[in-house]
Amino acid sequence: MSSVPLSATGGSPAPLPFASYDLWQSLLRHRDRLRASSIRALAAADPDRYARLSVEAEGLLLDYSRQLLDAPALADLLALVEASSVPTAIQELFEGAIVNGTEQRPALHVALRDTGVGPGTEPLHLGDFDVRAAVRTERARARAFATSVIGGTRKGATGQRITDVVNIGIGGSDLGPVMATEALKSYANPRLRVHFVSNLDGVQFADTVATLEPAKTLFVICSKTFTTLETLTNARLARRWITDKLGPNAVAKHFAAVSVNHPAMDEFGIAQDVRFTMWDWVGGRYSMWSAIGLSIELAIGPDRYEELLAGGRAMDRHFRSAPLAQNLPVLLGVLGVWNRNLLGCESHAVLPYDQRLHRFPAYLQQLEMESNGKRVRRDGRPVEWDTGTVIWGEPGSNAQHSFFQLLHQGTARVSMDFLLPAKSSVGNQASQDLAAANCLAQAEAFANGHSLEEARSELHAKRLEPARVGELAPHKVHPGDRPNSILAFEKLDAATLGKLVALYEHKVYVQSVIWDINPFDQWGVELGKKLADRLAPAVKGERAADAPGVQALIGRLKRWQGGG
Ligand code: F6P
Repeated sequence: MSSVPLSATGGSPAPLPFASYDLWQSLLRHRDRLRASSIRALAAADPDRYARLSVEAEGLLLDYSRQLLDAPALADLLALVEASSVPTAIQELFEGAIVNGTEQRPALHVALRDTGVGPGTEPLHLGDFDVRAAVRTERARARAFATSVIGGTRKGATGQRITDVVNIGIGGSDLGPVMATEALKSYANPRLRVHFVSNLDGVQFADTVATLEPAKTLFVICSKTFTTLETLTNARLARRWITDKLGPNAVAKHFAAVSVNHPAMDEFGIAQDVRFTMWDWVGGRYSMWSAIGLSIELAIGPDRYEELLAGGRAMDRHFRSAPLAQNLPVLLGVLGVWNRNLLGCESHAVLPYDQRLHRFPAYLQQLEMESNGKRVRRDGRPVEWDTGTVIWGEPGSNAQHSFFQLLHQGTARVSMDFLLPAKSSVGNQASQDLAAANCLAQAEAFANGHSLEEARSELHAKRLEPARVGELAPHKVHPGDRPNSILAFEKLDAATLGKLVALYEHKVYVQSVIWDINPFDQWGVELGKKLADRLAPAVKGERAADAPGVQALIGRLKRWQGGG
């Protein structure tokens, strides 16, 4: 098949931030060489390509043989990992070094899944603070709390058993818990339903409580800061909903909370025995391993929740010890850098072929985009290369029937990860096998395409008039060379989910080190929050907005509301 350039616009990408100019030039040469070929041609020329470009570790199989990449280019990408000091950065992460420079903090989410009970856990202190002991204590408290709610020994204010838990939180205090609770639904306790409310406009709250009884409902308020507008607004709605029915003393029995902000929990009325601590060295989007994961634990039980933690821990061990060429997070990281910085893919689609993972792309959106959506280097100088990729996706096969057309034949440059379990999550293997066939077919179609010659001969075989063949054939061409990887595993259980999440967390870290950006802060979310605070009185009609255009628009909204 003739090669088709991946980029509609072409142009040279800006250099990456590493010392070796020669390495960058070499990567550009690989890029040009491979663009002159095609994934299809590379596969045809190398019968061992799958064996060469796939790795299985910790029960996850990464098949990246459908990337526009070969062994020499990969060797240079791994040299880039070395040149960027990724191995040292990995060590620093686990040892509690200040990897979040702007906030002068370590990022110790990895410590949350290492409770220090297994072999190979080294002590970890931040000054005098014993991280392992603190994590163990909070873990034991969360476990005891979850056990008492699940077992029905912890009751509501009227003595009734809790049947429904509502997690109130947003961003990292919502996306991880929702994603994992949905993914592990097969293991959920049918006697304790778990719901999630995050959005500000009140709709989700109203829809959720519409079918619930206050006397049997427990709210878990998750907010690292306990200052987040959305969460506090919904938490206050929840408190009113409880106290209207059960009186003010019921708050202690119907609310638990997870936060670093104890004065704010005091003020809200959260009882001492049901407040759980997290720490400022845990970023929101990395926090489902802390007590922020309480709603996951309530849904699937403490033993399964600890399997999730163990899965994350297994991926941590792999990340720290596997050679770079077999290191799954390192490979995912460099594939992303290759597609973003060398091949110009601005967006990356995540396509799980298991409906249980339907919130996984949304979870990854915050993880990757809030972490690596940065435009200045660690020292504050502007970056001169592309950073974070736009992440999006939907479960296959639904995705096939909505946006795959653009991915196959559009002009956008998109790379893809397919997630594929071998076994059905619901015991319906025949349906899962069909899903797997579709996943593999799509991966092949994206990589290999369908040439003009193939389109023509297919139409000729249908005995179409030659003129009609000429008209139709160009519309049937699939250019191919849409780079994609398949991440396959036996089955979506708690340990596997833990491995998947930790894998992507570490992928993000690897990329941040190569791009020389801080993945653990998120200053870009602040400006909008501040403006919203300033505009709230204008929307309420208490004062005029500063900008005349904004005030005019508010006026129109008010007229629709009938307020003049
Ligand atoms: O959107 C910004 C953000 O700070 C996220 O990083 C965080 O996960 C989310 O808001 C919620 O914050 P909190 O847990 O403090 O309520």
